[in-house]
Amino acid sequence: MSKQEKKLFIQTLGCQMNDTDSQHMIAELKEHKNYTTTQNIEEADLILINTCSVREKPVSKLFSEIGQFNVKKKKSAKIGVCGCTASHLGHDIIKRAPYVDFVLGARNISKIKDIVDKKGAVEIDIDYDDSTYQFAQNSNNLYKTSVNISIGCDKECTYCIVPATRGDEISIPPEMIIEQIKKDVDKGAKEVTLLGQNVNSYGRRFSDKREKTTFTKLLQEVSKIEGLQRIRFTSPHPLHMDDEFIEEFAKNPKISKCIHMPLQSGSTKILKAMKRGYTKEWFLNRARKIRDMVPDVRITTDIIVAFPGETQEDFEDTIDVIKQVKFDQIFNFKYSPRPNTAALKLKDLEIADEIGTKRLMEVIELHKQHQSELMDKNVGKTVTVLFESLKPNGEVAGFTDNYCQVFVKGSDELLGRFVDVKVTNATRTALKGEVVDK
Ligand code: SAH
Ligand code: SF4
Ligand code: F3S
Repeated sequence: MSKQEKKLFIQTLGCQMNDTDSQHMIAELKEHKNYTTTQNIEEADLILINTCSVREKPVSKLFSEIGQFNVKKKKSAKIGVCGCTASHLGHDIIKRAPYVDFVLGARNISKIKDIVDKKGAVEIDIDYDDSTYQFAQNSNNLYKTSVNISIGCDKECTYCIVPATRGDEISIPPEMIIEQIKKDVDKGAKEVTLLGQNVNSYGRRFSDKREKTTFTKLLQEVSKIEGLQRIRFTSPHPLHMDDEFIEEFAKNPKISKCIHMPLQSGSTKILKAMKRGYTKEWFLNRARKIRDMVPDVRITTDIIVAFPGETQEDFEDTIDVIKQVKFDQIFNFKYSPRPNTAALKLKDLEIADEIGTKRLMEVIELHKQHQSELMDKNVGKTVTVLFESLKPNGEVAGFTDNYCQVFVKGSDELLGRFVDVKVTNATRTALKGEVVDK
């Protein structure tokens, strides 16, 4: 080997886009700089922390964490701060923690192979366009792959820092997406997740001048890939869930029947203040249409409680939507004021923390009841599962077509296969069962 092998320790926070960004950085560093990953920070030559700034907590944790990394690391090891917090804090990171070697913002990660050797470099340009960059390949799950279909976000949700950290939305050309998925399928992938901050606004702007297209068309193209058996995507926006999209979702057998519908609030007044672009009625209408057209669909959501100005009545609207839709999974958040967001102007309307906590607990309790009810309905049914991992306790884990996690007793011969399972037991978050057909 010409160059000496070096070790990379990487910590990833935040969303699935950050996960793929980390995978891309790992692959680039492996291909161009001879790095392999390690879980042991003490032997690392390079420590990367890929950050998230969507809520306040992870940001305040960042500095104590990199401080600890600095204590544990080898003397010669470098530290790089990447991702969304890198985008918005930029130079301040090195000012506050001078032992940090470089700062690399989200949307700039294709520069990783160059920046690792530039002490003090800060690359955080949110207009940088790496939508056509051919990243080196790295696979961490044999049967599943994730492919970015766009970068950035054009929405202006008033609570959200993402447009300020990831810049404007640019779609990745369909032929690049298809080629990437084909390569992964050749290596054994059965399932793909298409990723973007707002996937169903896909196709409106590309790096080059080309005809516009739509997410529904992309789904149709992706589903033609031979050998690919399951398609997932996240996050779609309820506003763009038009009839054409819902019909494709319902009738395309390759599309996993689990859909994320980020509600945020059930109150039309608050939705307006959040600039979400839809009303309570629109959301309910879309959810109903999906439930009517797709019998076993699972619907997941994100909810923010205590957005500035949220009255008890507004909150009751959120509870009402939860009761009507009965989400299969809810990711709950208490509003967290973020820099560079329009909602900061609503400071005077901010809700007392105790009220926020109380509302959050109410959502959690109601959701738990729904989860038990919905999951119990699976007992006795036969479901098809794509198995993907072996657990230390001798169980094999996988996901159904509507993306419910299932555990069975079995061995590695189940891995990578779609197998029928009879469900014998349900908890709020997973199913247990027995293989009925090998
Ligand atoms: N683009 C995706 C998700 C972006 S961030 C979408 O629109 O669905 C993931 C979730 O974090 C959001 O859906 C929202 O519920 C939550 N979130 C974003 N900003 C927040 C803030 N300032 N306070 C609390 N939760 C927030
Ligand atoms: Fe943020 Fe809204 Fe864009 Fe999602 S759609 S990333 S919540 S601005
Ligand atoms: Fe966090 Fe950035 Fe994703 S702020 S949620 S890592 S887009």
